[in-house]
Amino acid sequence: MSDLPNISTASFHIPSPEKLSTPLSTHKPRILLLYGSLRKRSFSRLVTLEAARILEAMGAETRIYHADGLPLADDTTEDHPKVQELRDLCTWSEGMVWCSPERHGAMTGVMKTQIDWIPLALGSIRPTQGRTLAVMQVCGGSQSFNTVNQLRQLGRWMRLITIPNQSSVAKAYQEFDDNDRMKPSPYYDRIVDVMEELIKFTLLTRDVSAYLTDRYSERKEKS
Ligand SMILES: Cc1cc2nc3c(=O)[nH]c(=O)nc-3n(C[C@H](O)[C@H](O)[C@H](O)COP(=O)(O)O)c2cc1C
Repeated sequence: MSDLPNISTASFHIPSPEKLSTPLSTHKPRILLLYGSLRKRSFSRLVTLEAARILEAMGAETRIYHADGLPLADDTTEDHPKVQELRDLCTWSEGMVWCSPERHGAMTGVMKTQIDWIPLALGSIRPTQGRTLAVMQVCGGSQSFNTVNQLRQLGRWMRLITIPNQSSVAKAYQEFDDNDRMKPSPYYDRIVDVMEELIKFTLLTRDVSAYLTDRYSERKEKS
């Protein structure tokens, strides 16, 4: 350590993962899905519903949060029932899916408002840290990645383990039938791929997320 004079030696150690020896949990992975629209026939909601069906078929337990009635961030107090519902669902979850429409080249305010209501810490509970995240977007025009890129950045901010795969559905209005079910297409198959990857990352990380998110600077601050 003599060549690292600024390091606190008491906090500077990486425990061996072998020491974890955690038995793997066997309950269904718990996935919360958020989407960013209040429209009656919303394609981001329809994509989210398809994703939830796929997740359930793969053995996950899912919840979908509907943002209707959620006030703008800081426009009311945290005990508002829609805020409480969102926070409780985050705490319940082991993984998340965020699906936003692209609007003016960016995620919607509805999507951002939900994320803005989720704090990094609720006392000792961290409602997002160490959970997995899959990001998706729907486009009205040709395929774009502006929104998933922004969601990915927010995922990092919320200390989520954002998986590599992602989905962007171009001209989403063309992808659903009269029963609001998604037609077979490479876009649908991509959503299956993304959900499969999300479940695998969730199964692999949910029991060791405290190990993965343990930080030198925070250990140093505590000690
Ligand atoms: C004001 C406005 C701006 C939009 N900007 C974009 C855009 O930048 N890129 C895009 O692909 N689609 C854009 N769209 C189309 C929406 O992404 C599309 O209608 C989408 O289905 C909306 O999501 P929803 O169906 O879940 O409400 C825009 C739509 C509106 C109303």
